[in-house]
Amino acid sequence: MIGLAKGLVKGARISALGVYVPERIVKNDELTERLDTSDEWIVSRTGIRERRICRPDQATSDMAVAAVEDLLSHNGFRAEDIQLVISTSLVPDHLFPATASIIAERVGALNAGAFDVQSGCTGFVYGLACAAAFVSSGLYERVLVTGAEALSKGLDWDDRSTCVLFGDGAGAVLVTPSDEGSIFSFDLGNDGSGAPFLNMPAGGTRLPASHETVEERQHFLRMKGSEVYRFASRKVVASCHKTLADAGLTPADVDLFVPHQANLRIIEKVADTLGFSKEQVFYNVDRYGNTSCASIPLCLHEAEQTGRLKKGDTLLMVGFGAGLTWASCLTRWEL
Ligand code: ACO
Repeated sequence: MIGLAKGLVKGARISALGVYVPERIVKNDELTERLDTSDEWIVSRTGIRERRICRPDQATSDMAVAAVEDLLSHNGFRAEDIQLVISTSLVPDHLFPATASIIAERVGALNAGAFDVQSGCTGFVYGLACAAAFVSSGLYERVLVTGAEALSKGLDWDDRSTCVLFGDGAGAVLVTPSDEGSIFSFDLGNDGSGAPFLNMPAGGTRLPASHETVEERQHFLRMKGSEVYRFASRKVVASCHKTLADAGLTPADVDLFVPHQANLRIIEKVADTLGFSKEQVFYNVDRYGNTSCASIPLCLHEAEQTGRLKKGDTLLMVGFGAGLTWASCLTRWEL
């Protein structure tokens, strides 16, 4: 009989982390110069004060490569020892080839397999689940997961309801076997009926690129914000409860909660419903906006650098996004 599986993955851990953010900071006031919006509206609805925007010549893989180089520069790992590269991104370099192929080549992971995960902003947690499962099964010992976004390239900068929300950045982690029997607990979810609420309508096989699709601005991110807000608040809480229960823990056992950084109101609502104190919750959406697949690794890095995330801490991460998808992950921080 096949039962409902507990999402436990044993014997794998995150053993290295790297990040990259573009230099250019765009504050809300800069957006108000060309859009019918205000710093007050953006801050009160989203908590966002500024975001990073990449250079015109930078693509998603360029930022992922910079994050991997950061990871490799302060750890003892060599690019040629990486066995698998998983790239997660809402806006990859191309429909094909996979961005992971480009990243692997550029960082010198010449002995690695490579593939992309496309599950919206949830991609990083989905990618982490793949990496943990590959390592836990014994198939591979060094799996790289990148979460990178040149999201500014996929935004309609005349659409005030979306362009103020997002930013660019990248993170990368390496997943390796754990001698200490470390446990990952995962819950991955999907509700495809929500696909129309967050998408890029044209450019794929459903609506190939044409003069009309360009004129109608259908090659940009479109979102029904209030629908995504309702979905996120509901599913994210249920997913966190399931992941904690599978590991036999409760919110009180969590040292740090790192949710996807889409909106401060969602973060606060979810944290409140789960019963987390302010000290247990990490956010930096105020300074980076929503960086999609990069948001969780960027938070992990900052939390570690500022002493909020320490070796041995119990860490709960949760992502949500296009699909609509969601995923949570509980693990012990062992860096
Ligand atoms: N400045 C000023 N007014 C604005 C702006 C803006 N930048 N954007 C929208 N408005 C207006 C709208 O036009 C609307 O005006 P109207 O009432 O005259 O029609 C009004 O503000 C309210 O719009 P709503 O969309 O209802 O505003 P809401 O309070 O829902 O906030 C927001 C919008 C911030 C997008 C919110 O819905 C949200 O955060 N949703 C979740 C989005 C999310 O999490 N997305 C990411 C998930 S996946 C991923 O990361 C890719």
